Amino acid sequence: MAPPPLFITFEGLDGSGKSTHLRRASAWLEEHRVPHLVTHEPGGTPLGDALRAIFLDPSRGAMDGTVELLLVFASRRQHLLEVIEPALAAGRHVLCDRFTDSTRAYQGYGRGVPLPLIEQVNRVATGGRTPDHTLLFDLPAGEARTRGHSPSRRERGAADRLDAEGLAFYERVRHGFQEVARAEAGRFRQVDSSGAFEETQARVRAELARWLGLEEEA
Ligand code: TMP
Repeated sequence: MAPPPLFITFEGLDGSGKSTHLRRASAWLEEHRVPHLVTHEPGGTPLGDALRAIFLDPSRGAMDGTVELLLVFASRRQHLLEVIEPALAAGRHVLCDRFTDSTRAYQGYGRGVPLPLIEQVNRVATGGRTPDHTLLFDLPAGEARTRGHSPSRRERGAADRLDAEGLAFYERVRHGFQEVARAEAGRFRQVDSSGAFEETQARVRAELARWLGLEEEA
């Protein structure tokens, strides 16, 4: 009998490599003919993509952490209703690039929005849907800032609202992810993302293989 579909999230700082690892992991699951859907937040639906554009656009002016919170949860609810829940109901695993843990880390620890308020809005927006498993790609914030797409966007003068934040913000966000992972140790697996890409990917596959009941390749 096919295993029940799982909701698996990939979390970490911008530049942690999570999105690249997710794409590679998805290609590997394709090879193993594992039915799954890859999606991301904020976004993942036409409405969510529009909210994402507003959320990241620096020309919209200052936004406080609570406004950010409401935008990402509006995107999240639409995403759950339109994409995530239907995929799970149809028996497909869902691999999602960011979910509520990003809100805890960025808006909670990064912006200072009270964590109980985040949990309250989370209950309303998601009905308590929680990932079955979460991979946290961890590396020092200073290192993450030199990787990914953010440095080139900053160099081109095309930094989004979050790229434009300084190192201290990203250090708070990293600390936030670690705290959230500690609080829910059963759901999280932390992956050291500062080493060689292939080693990190091997760790990702090992975790997925265990969760999905796959034979790991040699
Ligand atoms: P991405 O580059 O991984 O697609 O994410 C876009 C930015 O949105 C990234 O800087 C993290 C931020 N973000 C939040 O601040 N809160 C959230 O809840 C989510 C999902 C993303």
